[in-house]
Amino acid sequence: NIPSRVKLVDVGPRDGLQNEKQPVPAAVKIELVHRLQQAGLKEVEVTSYVSPKWVPQMADNHEVMQGITRVPGVRYSVLTPNLKGWEAAVLDKPDEIVVFGAASEAFSQKNINCSIAESIERFAPVVEAARAAGVYVRGAMSCTVGCPYEGEIAPERVEYLAGLMKGIGVQHIGVADTIGVGTPRKVQRAIEATLKHYDLNDVSGHFHDTYGQALANTLAALELGVWQFDTSVAGLGGCPYAKGATGNVATEDVVYMLHGMGIETGIDLDQLIDAGAYISDFLGRKPQSRVAVAVLTK
Ligand code: HMG
Ligand code: MG
Repeated sequence: NIPSRVKLVDVGPRDGLQNEKQPVPAAVKIELVHRLQQAGLKEVEVTSYVSPKWVPQMADNHEVMQGITRVPGVRYSVLTPNLKGWEAAVLDKPDEIVVFGAASEAFSQKNINCSIAESIERFAPVVEAARAAGVYVRGAMSCTVGCPYEGEIAPERVEYLAGLMKGIGVQHIGVADTIGVGTPRKVQRAIEATLKHYDLNDVSGHFHDTYGQALANTLAALELGVWQFDTSVAGLGGCPYAKGATGNVATEDVVYMLHGMGIETGIDLDQLIDAGAYISDFLGRKPQSRVAVAVLTK
């Protein structure tokens, strides 16, 4: 059942950097995207079109998107929470947009300032406009195993949200463990709930590594046949609305595991480690990737 090829979406420039307090210049973000595509990443989540008052780090979305030298075959995705975000994003020609909801009501309120039902109402016209423009629509579901405000989240709530996303035409869905509390069987339950509405080929895993479970959770998802994952170079990140949440599983660590299992990614691990070292140097810290640290100190 384990796939022989996996697609990784590096979300470091968006999910990673959105949580950094120190301003990262657009030029550094652009260079990071360039290094990721050089390393063989076929999709990069570049930025988000959200309120600059909520997430100041992403205020340079337009400059970053315009500054990237695009490589054919690489897809560039961006977050758009509402029509205002979509209208700004479309000018920068993303290949894919992401609407992001939550399986937990409390997290929906904290993150996007509305209820789950309201979020679906806001996403619907965005999905419609994007699809009419030929832009692929991905959905992200936060807190599919646990929520920082509500605790454990039942699979039925994931199934419910996945059904709502499907109902408004969201083409692909990401199952996110926002605060990294998930363990393999729980993550499998969340994925199985999602599979009630989405085809296996339209589902990806998005695992934060707060409790050190993200690699195990990735393997658990692979066992179900999931072959698409969001990962973050150098393990950058967290979520500004989930206190204590650390970054996504490091892309380097996932690539090392996959290659070791004979699963293709198309990614050059050494170049990826260089990309991670570049941004970690800028931020003044060591990469949060065990593989990168091991290789760099060898
Ligand atoms: P709101 O306050 O409810 O929106 O925020 P509003 O429509 O009432 O507008 C209020 C103000 O925001 C207005 O400006 C709007 O123009 C402005 P003002 O008149 O006060 O000057 N505004 C915008 N500005 C720029 N771009 C926009 C936009 N929309 C409104 N698109 C909103 C609603 C969603 C905008 C707000 O709550 C927000 O920006 N939240 C930030 C959400 C975010 O970026 N979270 C992190 C990403 S999600 C994540 O990390 C999870 C994920 O990785 C998966 C996982 O791990 O779980 C995807
Ligand atoms: Mg995330």
